[in-house]
Amino acid sequence: MTQDELKQRVGQAAADYVYANVPEGAVIGVGTGSTANCFIDALAAHKGRYRGAVSSSLATTARLQSHGIKVFDLNEIDGLPVYVDGADEIDAHGAMIKGGGGALTREKIVASVADRFVCIADASKRVGVLGAFPLPIEVVPMARTAVGRRVAALGGVPVLRVQKDGSPYITDNGNEILDVKGLHINDPRTLEAHVNAWPGVVTVGLFAVRGADLCLLGGEAGVERIEYTKG
Ligand code: A5P
Repeated sequence: MTQDELKQRVGQAAADYVYANVPEGAVIGVGTGSTANCFIDALAAHKGRYRGAVSSSLATTARLQSHGIKVFDLNEIDGLPVYVDGADEIDAHGAMIKGGGGALTREKIVASVADRFVCIADASKRVGVLGAFPLPIEVVPMARTAVGRRVAALGGVPVLRVQKDGSPYITDNGNEILDVKGLHINDPRTLEAHVNAWPGVVTVGLFAVRGADLCLLGGEAGVERIEYTKG
């Protein structure tokens, strides 16, 4: 089975999970990326059941709207029963690296108001220790070099994310992204809080303080359901 087929499998499993666990008329939090796209496509089959969605990126908004799913501004919504999103890496405690698609800030905001975070991933995303995937940090552009120096002092190698033409990649929020290579993240909660406190950092792509509650992990044998206990 290809990685794309595994993503479709977990996207469908997440739509089934939402159908079984979320009341009719609810608004659903929706993540960003190729796996989240599979979820959106599967969710669309039952779109009449839900009031709509809160989106974590312009790309996700466009995909939801292409299916005729109403997109709400988060400010219009009191809460979300569930947020469904992919990850670049997930560890045994439900801590994740996210932001490979550049949407980490809005993803973290939407996830923060949801009762439950359901991570959907193919089995290649499961790791023992986070950090092989470069850790994205969204920065205010004028702080890029200052944040890069702090990253280097931690032993990381910051690389400015660029587009195909070599110009800086710009997020939906008008900021830049440093992708940090070379970190071995043994304590993701502490690192998340530490990096978030640096001036100029908008969001670090560690989702550990608010990690996943459930992971639907797609492998050859099917979809494994992993629940995480918080503490
Ligand atoms: C988007 O910014 C990311 O956090 C994605 O959720 C993550 O990169 C997973 O993307 P894929 O599902 O495309 O692998």
